Amino acid sequence: MTEHIKIESKDHVLTLTFARPDKKNAITNAMYGALADAIIAAETDAATRVIVLRGEGDMFTAGNDVGEFAMMATDAFNGERHVSRFVEAIARSTKPLVAAVQGRAVGIGTTMLLHCDFVVLAEDAQLSTPFVNLALVPEAASTLLMPLRVGYARAYEMFALGEAMDARAALQLGVANRVVPLSRLHAETASVAARLAKLPSGSLAATKRLMRNAEVLTAQISAESECFAARLKTAEAREAFSAFAEKRPPEFTKLAS
Ligand code: COA
Repeated sequence: MTEHIKIESKDHVLTLTFARPDKKNAITNAMYGALADAIIAAETDAATRVIVLRGEGDMFTAGNDVGEFAMMATDAFNGERHVSRFVEAIARSTKPLVAAVQGRAVGIGTTMLLHCDFVVLAEDAQLSTPFVNLALVPEAASTLLMPLRVGYARAYEMFALGEAMDARAALQLGVANRVVPLSRLHAETASVAARLAKLPSGSLAATKRLMRNAEVLTAQISAESECFAARLKTAEAREAFSAFAEKRPPEFTKLAS
């Protein structure tokens, strides 16, 4: 349990809110655990017909907690990495997943959107996947889904250079369904969720299963996770995490890859 994920259920819509605004909703292992538990439980809960993901404060989420990356890179961590359960849960969920995104969506904040069925962005949304800046590799099947969605050239630029995609580009490239003024973000999301909640849920689930091959996605997730875990322990990643903690730019050029 963590106070940093708020879970509310109303009118068949389960809303999961990243609630750690003082740390820009950076997601901790405990938060991934709570998200995974809620999404897995929703799969067999007839009362939940739609799941909404959103964040408190001025941004959706700054991605994985970088301090925890550093901690998990040490041998001191021997617990379960709940991020894997969360990613697998969103890849396998047959309920409609709807996201409401304001401000930045960094790293997994963006890659989770590729598993959402309906993405509403505020005009100030900025999607970025700076995994290489942290000497890591992209996750959540994004190495498959991002090039499919936006083309190889744009995906490579986002992954390698960490370039952000703004709301207009995300709409144009098919990463998002709607862009609305920030003041209308949650009302628009609630209206979409309410419409989806009234539709025949069996038909929606079957449509989603036909559109998304969960086995292909989870195989890609496994390949990425293995590479990610190995990268966490590299000198390059240690330098990236130290630089983040010390609020300075990283220096990679003197390190072996
Ligand atoms: N992990 C841990 N803490 C984070 C974090 C993250 N991913 N992102 C932000 N924070 C913390 C900051 O360290 C800071 O903590 P402090 O107040 O104790 O110093 C606090 O949240 C506010 O962040 P700050 O950087 O001051 O906000 P900002 O608006 O200037 O910048 C970001 C926001 C998202 C651009 C910037 O915080 C950032 O680049 N974060 C890292 C993103 C990242 O690399 N995520 C992983 C991707 S794989």
